[in-house]
Amino acid sequence: MDVAQRKFFVGGNWKCNGDLEFIDKHFNEVLFKLGHDKTKCDVLIAPVFIHLQKALSLANSNDSGLIISAQNCSLTAEGAFTGEVAARLIKNLGVNWTILGHSERRTLYRETNEKVGTKVKNAMDNGLNVVACIGETLQEREEKKTLDVCYAQLKEIAASVTDWSRVVIAYEPIWAIGTGKTPTVDEAQEVHLAIRSWISKNVNVEAANGVRIIYGGSVTDTNAESFAKMSDIDGFLVGGASLKPAFSKIVNAYTVKGLTGKY
Ligand code: PGA
Repeated sequence: MDVAQRKFFVGGNWKCNGDLEFIDKHFNEVLFKLGHDKTKCDVLIAPVFIHLQKALSLANSNDSGLIISAQNCSLTAEGAFTGEVAARLIKNLGVNWTILGHSERRTLYRETNEKVGTKVKNAMDNGLNVVACIGETLQEREEKKTLDVCYAQLKEIAASVTDWSRVVIAYEPIWAIGTGKTPTVDEAQEVHLAIRSWISKNVNVEAANGVRIIYGGSVTDTNAESFAKMSDIDGFLVGGASLKPAFSKIVNAYTVKGLTGKY
């Protein structure tokens, strides 16, 4: 499968943002007016847990095609785990996706590579599709450890993946998240290609060619198209800009890939 056959994928990671009023406004003023070709670009929206139900009903109310996603799931199944949300309960609500391994989860909530792997397993076993995040710190980049760090994170994720068609990998350099800094498009492409090659070698060629590898970290409406032109960048995971009207232009950056047909 070459680049033209991978469907573009743009995720809006709302993090801990978006109250009831914002959700109504943002769906009506931005998300329902994206105007993208749904056969060429998947759009995922990840609000906070407590608003998943509301986001689902909005997304389903007008055939928007928007995918609603959790931002996390529990390490554990249902049971005496106060404050946690198990993967099965997310799926039971009608949500089919979750983001896992975001760097904020890894650093602020001490999620190790191993824990992220366990969460990926929980999610997949319960029928959830996964946006699995990886990426290096600034220090690791400066020490030229970017690929080693990504491979170590990928290894734990890959060990839990049962179906690669249900996974999207998000490469998010930690130093680029929320900072306004980004790697150059060539630097990002180099890491995306390395991730794909790792999957080809350690899983199989089919999984590697089919998996969407998306870029995250200070994506804006002004830089999205130049990243989208790179052959191994299949979309974006967007934080700050996903809460703004600028999200629309980021979603529509898929048009620069010149995709044709349905796949
Ligand atoms: P940002 O966040 O777009 O605000 O940099 C990206 C992310 O954390 O997924």
